[in-house]
Amino acid sequence: MTLWEGRLSGRPAEELMAFTESLSFDRRLASVDIEGSRAHVRGLVRAGILTDSEAGILLVALDRVDEELGSSMFTFAPGDEDIHTAVERRVTEIAGEVGAKLHTGRSRNDQVATDLRMYTRAALVRTGRRILELQLVLLRRAKSADDAYLPGYTHLQRAQPVLLAHHLLAHGWALARDLDRIVDALDRMNVSPLGAGALAGSSLRLDPDGVAQDLGFARRFENSLDAVSDRDFVAETLFVIALIGVHLSRIGEEIALWSSEEFGFARLDDRYATGSSMLPQKKNPDIAELARGKAGRIIGHLTGLLATLKGLPLSYNRDLQEDKEPLLDAFDQVDRALGALGGLMDTIEFDIERMQEAAGGPAVAAIDLAEWLVERGMPFRQAHATVGGLVRDSIERHVPLAELVEAHPALGTEPLALLEPGVAVTRRTSPGGAGPGAVAAQMERYERRLDLDRERLARFTFSPPSAGEKAPGEADGA
Ligand code: ARG
Repeated sequence: MTLWEGRLSGRPAEELMAFTESLSFDRRLASVDIEGSRAHVRGLVRAGILTDSEAGILLVALDRVDEELGSSMFTFAPGDEDIHTAVERRVTEIAGEVGAKLHTGRSRNDQVATDLRMYTRAALVRTGRRILELQLVLLRRAKSADDAYLPGYTHLQRAQPVLLAHHLLAHGWALARDLDRIVDALDRMNVSPLGAGALAGSSLRLDPDGVAQDLGFARRFENSLDAVSDRDFVAETLFVIALIGVHLSRIGEEIALWSSEEFGFARLDDRYATGSSMLPQKKNPDIAELARGKAGRIIGHLTGLLATLKGLPLSYNRDLQEDKEPLLDAFDQVDRALGALGGLMDTIEFDIERMQEAAGGPAVAAIDLAEWLVERGMPFRQAHATVGGLVRDSIERHVPLAELVEAHPALGTEPLALLEPGVAVTRRTSPGGAGPGAVAAQMERYERRLDLDRERLARFTFSPPSAGEKAPGEADGA
């Protein structure tokens, strides 16, 4: 059976079904599809199109389909090209004649747009919670890092010492912006398309406002054509996830560097590392590398979707079915990456001695010498050139920097203390800077921001996708 057997004769070709079906991936929309249908039924009652008893029969049937899908008792039929078709078919089998009234005033075009918005908003909240968890791990590690410091780099060259806590929180703030974007995107996507019909609305007295409210949307669509064509929320979500992916990738890149023998700044916990099938001595940072690798794939999903959308005329075109796989995959990959990287960062062991040794050389204090001269009235450019000349001399003539400083008429013995290991970092006192006082203040602000963001996210109380939805990592079940 097809949904269009009145108009077309004969059974659709097998190749058509194989090529156009979306059930293999959109069955993950089952629970939101059923939730949407329930609200649609209640709307049809308010419109006087369904009687209470008809609605009762449909709602009971929808409950049963929900149960069947949730307990994997649901049997899909060969003609079920997508989850919407499958649910309606089964409702009709259970409810009998009234089943034929379920789709009144509705098209799969407004239905699928509604389903996907409901799925996306719930999944985004879930991803947001995972971000908060990783941010919390970073905070915990930053707190326990105390006054440990390491070289800060520019151009991957040692530049100035920074507190380890400062470095860890830098990644935490990037994640805070991701959370900000999630909340922002949630507000924008929380608009119901249900009631737009195929593209133009309906002659029936539908109640899209009431249905929107019923489904927890902030409001209904303004324009039916736009409602069924709009996939901005998918593109935006993919961008948000792609940028999270980029941030995780940058953390991953540093972990790969830090855990190398060359850096030796960190050792991975065995549970979060892998070995080599051939080389017995190897311990590999596969989580970090895959965090880096998956970002490429997610960026591909974003650009792929934008390419799909760019040439589409209004309103619904079947091309739009291509929105789901990239979106679902992006969620799966980023959620797993957040979990794995969270565990890795929670258990990683930092080699503080190695870090501080790398950041303890006198040359990293060069800027402090220059600023010492500035405080005594020397223009900065001149101070920069003076200290630069001393560093160069020290390297070329193999003379310790301290000796040259001591011998220099503008410097002398007083600034020698600046060259002692561990001193430079304590002098980064400006707001937002890398020294202990500034970092303590930053940490407080970061913690407060975390609490605030947790509250902002808690405003969105969408139930997470459940029936027919497999959690990331779970096997594919029909
Ligand atoms: N499976 C379709 C999709 O995901 C549902 C909408 C089909 N609409 C249509 N007019 N054929 O986009």
